[in-house]
Amino acid sequence: MKGVLLAGGSGTRLYPITVAINKHLLPIYNKPMIYYPLSVLMLAGIREVLIVVNPQDEEVFRKLLGDGSRLGMRIQYAIQEKPRGLADGLLVAEDFIGDDSVCMILGDNIFFGHDLPNILRSAKEEVESEGGAVVFGYYVKDPQRFGIVQFDERGKVISIEEKPENPKSNYAVVGLYFYDNQALSYAKEIKPSPRGELEITSVNQEYLKRGSLKVKILGRGFAWFDAGTYDSFLEAGNFVATIENKTGLMIGNIEEIAYRNGWISKEKLLEIADTLRNTSYGEYLKRIANE
Ligand code: DAU
Repeated sequence: MKGVLLAGGSGTRLYPITVAINKHLLPIYNKPMIYYPLSVLMLAGIREVLIVVNPQDEEVFRKLLGDGSRLGMRIQYAIQEKPRGLADGLLVAEDFIGDDSVCMILGDNIFFGHDLPNILRSAKEEVESEGGAVVFGYYVKDPQRFGIVQFDERGKVISIEEKPENPKSNYAVVGLYFYDNQALSYAKEIKPSPRGELEITSVNQEYLKRGSLKVKILGRGFAWFDAGTYDSFLEAGNFVATIENKTGLMIGNIEEIAYRNGWISKEKLLEIADTLRNTSYGEYLKRIANE
């Protein structure tokens, strides 16, 4: 399975902050936003990742993450000329995905919760062995902002709608999608929505129509943030700070995950720690290496 991370878009909801800087480079407490979704792909065991970027931003992302070899990964970049929607991100990634399955994650989505690595790995294995799609639902108080999934009394999915005016439930579809290769053909077939975008919800609707969409619930023990508004951006940063300071363990630390996945050696981890000078981030990596 390949990983696709969407880091394009216009970021207008965070203007004026994002007039001159890409949203996914803004800090969520002590690391750039993009570390969090990248760490989710890594926790799923995905080592080959394509980052979809705006034409003007490719260089800065390369400066931050390079070709991924520092993390024992392969990271590539693809340009999305215009923010034509999330499903267009799949089309931009077509050559990279080839005939493989794909896990697509949104660059402004942050996840934290017990057993997340196992949940991610089983979703990946399920799609790899059985095909279809696995997505996740999360209870929210502001369902008009999201893709919304409706279930019947037995928990079967009956509808998915993008930003409905009258939401049929409070379950948002989070920005993490595990798809078999069919996603590419569905993305090619769908038409732009009234807001002019190729919606990922339309791709999910195609899977639903064919009876091959699974929606798993991320329960109350989970924290999920779409850090695309002033408040959710601040909340996500405060949340990460609170958990990290309480436990002494970091969220979204890509070097730690690469090391624990066995993708980089202890020596490499210590070498990276040195480049981070006297920061608590660097100290943390040294502690992990010497555990
Ligand atoms: O966060 C979950 C929600 O994300 C889902 O519930 C919705 O179904 C889904 O449509 C999406 O809604 P948003 O309106 O929040 O998406 P947004 O336009 O903020 O874009 C999400 C991320 O994808 C963001 O990090 C920017 C990036 N992006 C967006 C577009 C439209 C791209 O890379 N390219 C694009 O063309």
